[in-house]
Amino acid sequence: DTVSWDPEETGKSGYDHYMLKEIHEQPRALRQCLRGRVDELSASVDIGDLGDLSPTGIQFVACGTSYHAAFYAAQLFQSAGIPAQAFLASEYATSPPPIGDALVVGVTQSGETADTLSALREARHRGARTLAVTNVVGSTAARECDHALYIRAGPEIGVAASKTFSSQLGALNLLALATTRSDEARDIIAALRDLPGQVQELIDDSDAKEVAEHYQDAKSYFFIGRGHMHPVALEGALKMKEITYKHAEGFAAGELKHGTLALVTEDTPVFATTVGDGEQATKTVGNVKEVEARDAPVVAVTDGQSDIERYADHVLTIPETHPRAAAVLANVQLQLAAYHTANFLGRSIDKPRNLAKSVTVE
Ligand code: AGP
Repeated sequence: DTVSWDPEETGKSGYDHYMLKEIHEQPRALRQCLRGRVDELSASVDIGDLGDLSPTGIQFVACGTSYHAAFYAAQLFQSAGIPAQAFLASEYATSPPPIGDALVVGVTQSGETADTLSALREARHRGARTLAVTNVVGSTAARECDHALYIRAGPEIGVAASKTFSSQLGALNLLALATTRSDEARDIIAALRDLPGQVQELIDDSDAKEVAEHYQDAKSYFFIGRGHMHPVALEGALKMKEITYKHAEGFAAGELKHGTLALVTEDTPVFATTVGDGEQATKTVGNVKEVEARDAPVVAVTDGQSDIERYADHVLTIPETHPRAAAVLANVQLQLAAYHTANFLGRSIDKPRNLAKSVTVE
């Protein structure tokens, strides 16, 4: 279940940074993730033999960006009626929740993150079945878990995770489709099929560089979203702080009024994501109005269906699609915003200070 990547890919291939190259590799990475695994005609998914995977409960353990993917995945299972939770691996290992007969899934790009390995070991020790969702064949997580599902993103050199997050979301959708029943399976599969081409178009047309230039001097950035856009907000903030060294905070849009609004001023750009024109989007637009009333600049990441643009200073557009796929697209806009901000600031994008690609201590 491996993919061969050409040796030339270990270089930057003309890009200024590995991170930018890896952002641009996302259409291909997503195609590799899906290749041979989805059948549109029968609306079915084949992710290989992962044993008896019809979980009555599911617990995800992960760190950092992978935790954001895990949080998104828990939402997918919850919407299929399966009790699902995402845990920060470092907390899971120290105070493990009751497992019952839940499947425990470690989401880890490298497969070597000490906190995640430790959480998985704890789960196994308590008799749980474990699955690694990872990028690295033969990694410790892949070897130690009962089963492995590969995200097939290819090597990621930049310390900041970019294409591997998108591929994690792709693979976790496949896991959810393969193990639960959904009336929307056909629509989701179609949305996943369209995703690589949409990511390509989005990258080609993105205004994220202009947004980054405009707000590069801000001291603080906020990111808000609801539902699937909540993990996207968390990931947008992590990326921004990791590579720009600026304060950034992501949270559920509804939480804004419970404290953080006190920090919102004309100097704090707020990236707000909405998809569709349903209740979630309408409520997020309500939060955006509160932000706008405090003169904070608003960057709307949107498919244009809600009226968020009326209150926005800048718009980063995503195409209309299923909300699950929209999460990938919105995140790509936020990756580009963080990348260009860091680039304007002259930061060490591929190797941010104090950080390592894979954290092998607890
Ligand atoms: C994200 O940009 C970071 N590099 C970091 O949060 C990373 O996702 C985390 O350390 C987990 O790594 P893993 O996926 O290899 O387990």
